[in-house]
Amino acid sequence: MSDWRIGFGEDAHRLAEGRPLVIGGVTIAGSQRGAVAHSDGDVLLHALADALLSAFALGDIGHYFPPSDPTYKDMDSAEILQQVMQVIQEKTGPFTIQNVAAVVILDTPKLGRHRAQIQARLAALLGLSSERVGVTFKTSEGLAPEHIQARVTVLLQRS
Ligand code: C5P
Ligand code: MG
Repeated sequence: MSDWRIGFGEDAHRLAEGRPLVIGGVTIAGSQRGAVAHSDGDVLLHALADALLSAFALGDIGHYFPPSDPTYKDMDSAEILQQVMQVIQEKTGPFTIQNVAAVVILDTPKLGRHRAQIQARLAALLGLSSERVGVTFKTSEGLAPEHIQARVTVLLQRS
């Protein structure tokens, strides 16, 4: 019997001058501000990792990579994602990702011209084709100009 799973995750970080802006494993060149974080502050990869874990009710990334643990300081978020996929594999067995739908909320800079690169990077990290990785952008309409946020849904199937 097929075992379909939906996952959902989100993340937010405060923005500050002099920090790199990393979204979905892509560093956005020329941004004045980036996320303040213990790690690289990649909200999209953090929300994606939580979405994958939530699909199988396996907790969240803070459970596996506690922010208080210095081992995980400045850890590459792509590495977090890889380890999360390994955890799921170990605990639930093989699974396939059908598609990913991600939203990044950021007032500036505009991100449209980076969409293809972010989709390609996420697709490579997940072993999918870019056509299965939807990435949309929204401003907060001034409600959260000092923050970057991401929300991600995934559809998975236990194989
Ligand atoms: O938030 P708002 O509806 O005003 O966004 C309008 C459009 O601007 C979005 O649909 C998206 O195409 C683009 N956008 C973007 N980069 C952002 C925010 C919005 O490319 N950081
Ligand atoms: Mg985060």
